[in-house]
Amino acid sequence: MRTSIAAVSDQPGLAPLVAEWLVEAFAYPGSRSVADMTALILTPPVGPEETFVLFEQNRPVGTASLAAQDLASRPDLTPWLAGVFVHPAFRRRGYATALVRRAEEFAMAASLPALWLYTWTAEPLYARLGWHRVGLEQNRGSEVVLMKRSLADE
Ligand SMILES: CC(C)(COP(=O)(O)OP(=O)(O)OC[C@H]1O[C@@H](n2cnc3c(N)ncnc32)[C@H](O)[C@@H]1OP(=O)(O)O)[C@@H](O)C(=O)NCCC(=O)NCCS
Repeated sequence: MRTSIAAVSDQPGLAPLVAEWLVEAFAYPGSRSVADMTALILTPPVGPEETFVLFEQNRPVGTASLAAQDLASRPDLTPWLAGVFVHPAFRRRGYATALVRRAEEFAMAASLPALWLYTWTAEPLYARLGWHRVGLEQNRGSEVVLMKRSLADE
């Protein structure tokens, strides 16, 4: 199946769809509305930030972002791989893998030494892609796994 990856900075019309996905997948009490999430995605970047969307044929089916901040307990770490989501009907086709790789390429092109992420459930996926668990953090009352991807030697 033919796939491609676009940057939302090039196609801002994708932001409301990405916001819908992220609000649906990661909602918690008091989390952003779709409108607020759309506005956040379209906020001019602080440093190396970008949101990517993967298309299968011409249909947008998944997303991943680089964000300056993502975990309240670790404002010292930046930037973060965040908002990794693939539409349920399109999972297990390597699309999250492709999105993570695209975000890593973007980070390498910006000469970043490392990326960070946190996850509850997807540690095996990221471990397979060269990410390492570096510890546990608290996020809104839950324990999450903090992971790092070193880029300097790539
Ligand atoms: C986690 C998530 C992003 C994974 O998306 P995905 O596109 O299915 O991921 P991939 O296809 O790249 O990899 C997932 C699995 O499919 C397998 N896979 C990849 N390509 C495949 C293919 N062509 N055929 C069959 N399986 C394949 C991978 O080996 C991997 O297997 P494993 O993790 O069980 O070892 C998706 O399930 C999701 O959106 N979940 C909800 C949001 C979420 O939890 N996001 C992560 C927050 S940190």
